[in-house]
Amino acid sequence: MNKELLYTGKAKDVYKTDNEDEVIVHFRNDITALDGGKTDSLENKGRYNTLISAKLFEVLESKGVKTQYIDLITSEEMLSKSLKMIPLEVICRNIATGSLIKKYPFQEKQELNPPIIQFDYKNDEFHDPMLNDDIIIALNIATKDDLERIREITRKLNSVLVDFLKEHGIILVDFKIEVGFDKDNNIVVGDEISPDTTRLWDIETGKNFDKDIFRKNESGVVSAYHKVVKAILTPEEQKKWNVE
Ligand code: C5P
Repeated sequence: MNKELLYTGKAKDVYKTDNEDEVIVHFRNDITALDGGKTDSLENKGRYNTLISAKLFEVLESKGVKTQYIDLITSEEMLSKSLKMIPLEVICRNIATGSLIKKYPFQEKQELNPPIIQFDYKNDEFHDPMLNDDIIIALNIATKDDLERIREITRKLNSVLVDFLKEHGIILVDFKIEVGFDKDNNIVVGDEISPDTTRLWDIETGKNFDKDIFRKNESGVVSAYHKVVKAILTPEEQKKWNVE
């Protein structure tokens, strides 16, 4: 297999394959926060994020939400559809926390019903500013119809994952997804859905199972990610991928 590097991001590398419609996404152990101001490398983090993303993509596909996911190659490498990515960070919030309560007068842990969908510009130079529909359209990032479709996909994805995670003892507080066009011009969910890109709280204790642990300089990041793997993968899947 041809392993030419196509793109390298903060925590993942994307490689070409012999098929131009498919790429391999390699999840690295690197972790960053605070606009790149805090970085580290944590053993097994890439592996756990791969397994969690693959599982969540499989759940979404089973409920009719299209994703880039094709298959797992190893527990760190995902065979994925090649997408033309839209440079948006699509953020969806069920509970107010994080930057929302820093910027607006919401109460911490306030329930948001309907969920809030927010678009940030994926642009390091401008530090990912929040956008509105007019700015997105004027910058040719996406059309009005694309935005309507992205909102529809995000709402469906949110309701599928809220239900699935709840069954496994986890509250889906908020998340960021990225979307792109597949070869048939459908908008599909790409990138990853993992504890790096979501806030996940234990239903019993309210404790974080996500990157907030790293953002707050607390210990136990990888063991929290490991708990998510143990909670959502079946015993057979854990055995297949040697999860202890
Ligand atoms: O920091 P904030 O509260 O805006 O984050 C909302 C959600 O989006 C969190 O789940 C966070 O992990 C995710 N996010 C992300 N990548 C970013 C910004 C936010 O995955 N660049």
